[in-house]
Amino acid sequence: MIDFSSTDMKTFTCVLLILIGSTGGQFLAPGNHGNNVISRTSGNLLRNLMGTQTYKDAIVTSRLDASMPVRRFYRGFREIYSRLLGETGQRSSGNFLQSYVSPSKAFPCQVDGFRSSTPPESVHQLRPGDIDIVAAVGDSLTTATAANSRALWELMAENRGVSWSIGGQGTWRTHLTLPNIIKEFNPQLFGYSLSDSYNVHREAQFNVAENIATTSDMPYNAKKLVSRMRLDSRVNMTHHWKILTYMIGGNDFCSDICHQTNATHWINDLQEKYLLESLRYLRDNMPRTLVNLVPTPLISLSFSMDKVQRPFSCSLTQPIECSCLFGPRYSKDRNHFRTIERKFAKIMERLSFLAELHTKEFTIVYQPFFKDASVFYGGVKEPDMDLMSIDCVHLSQKGHAVSANGLWNNMMEAVGSKSSGFRPLFAEFKCPSREKPYIFTNYNS
Ligand SMILES: *[C@@H]1O[C@H](CO)[C@@H](O)[C@H](O)[C@H]1NC(C)=O
Ligand SMILES: *[C@@H]1O[C@H](CO)[C@@H](O)[C@H](O)[C@H]1NC(C)=O
Repeated sequence: MIDFSSTDMKTFTCVLLILIGSTGGQFLAPGNHGNNVISRTSGNLLRNLMGTQTYKDAIVTSRLDASMPVRRFYRGFREIYSRLLGETGQRSSGNFLQSYVSPSKAFPCQVDGFRSSTPPESVHQLRPGDIDIVAAVGDSLTTATAANSRALWELMAENRGVSWSIGGQGTWRTHLTLPNIIKEFNPQLFGYSLSDSYNVHREAQFNVAENIATTSDMPYNAKKLVSRMRLDSRVNMTHHWKILTYMIGGNDFCSDICHQTNATHWINDLQEKYLLESLRYLRDNMPRTLVNLVPTPLISLSFSMDKVQRPFSCSLTQPIECSCLFGPRYSKDRNHFRTIERKFAKIMERLSFLAELHTKEFTIVYQPFFKDASVFYGGVKEPDMDLMSIDCVHLSQKGHAVSANGLWNNMMEAVGSKSSGFRPLFAEFKCPSREKPYIFTNYNS
């Protein structure tokens, strides 16, 4: 634990960490960038400080991995930081956690009969227990940044073990995650993150998400994942069935969109290109994979908190972490950006139906549950701010659990009748049935 001697020191460290952790912060940016290419360096405090020069988009997982000096500094910094902090992901009490499900309650689904006796030949006949490997690409919502944080100086902790789509710490009773659900059907499942870790750590496993990643980072993210899998002796790429959850977009709208001279062009032409490039790459290099393509909840969640009394800390963090929506300079464009963000989700959905992205052994399913994410559960008057992390931008562990519940339900719902929005944890938990034993795809719904 960090032992600070004075409040001033605490405040100073806090602000410093936030600044370093949010290099997309536009209100730190030196004015307008007059071009319309993805301005990966806009508002990058570290770049400004260290004078590192421009770099190719394609070689970074995130802005913070952009150049050698920054990479060294950032990785070194994170190592020291996480040692000082300790494993926040192991905390077992706090409002930010889901409530524990006692052993007297059985797992909600029957699990017998939902692993095929021999592996299926088609991705459209996958039972939950047929999944051997889980993987994920994405941003800080997939790294589970700050999920178990109690204080602002803990914001850079990555609690990957509790991540909704790829965390495998504990069991569904303590941490509802997609892997912890699938483990009930197939205890041999692997690839999930084991505990707090950064991308480069072994504990991260096949979670190659990076903080501050945007859609333009996804082609690189996807390549990293495939090479990591190929190097892993446990993996038989052509034999094992895999689920890859792909969720991206938050930082595009929090940190990049307000730097574009023509946001419509940017979203329609450039972002779609990156999505398509990464999906084609996955189709060609990751056989036997079902991709969950998920829109980001970040913008929807942010708007849902507009009328909610938020903790003071959030008025500090939101304008920094999500300056295009909360920075005073861009507030007039907020609704415009929101409209474009909706369009982005539509682009994702449309791509998921492109015939070229579906083969017998590869498919993409658009899972919409995050689309209408809100701190208000459907039809409820009181917000549940415990879903949010201390910064009101990221999800708490409870928020990750609610998200995992939503993703799982979407996988058990036919395309065309999938639910969206948050529900209280376990209020509804769908199960495969004898008649409909397969994970739903565009071709078996
Ligand atoms: C991978 O699985 C295939 C099909 O089951 C098998 O023929 C092949 O030998 C396996 N490869 C390795 C390296 O184990
Ligand atoms: C922005 O881009 C769109 C699509 O590429 C184009 O139709 C529109 O004319 C552009 N708007 C401006 C102001 O340049």
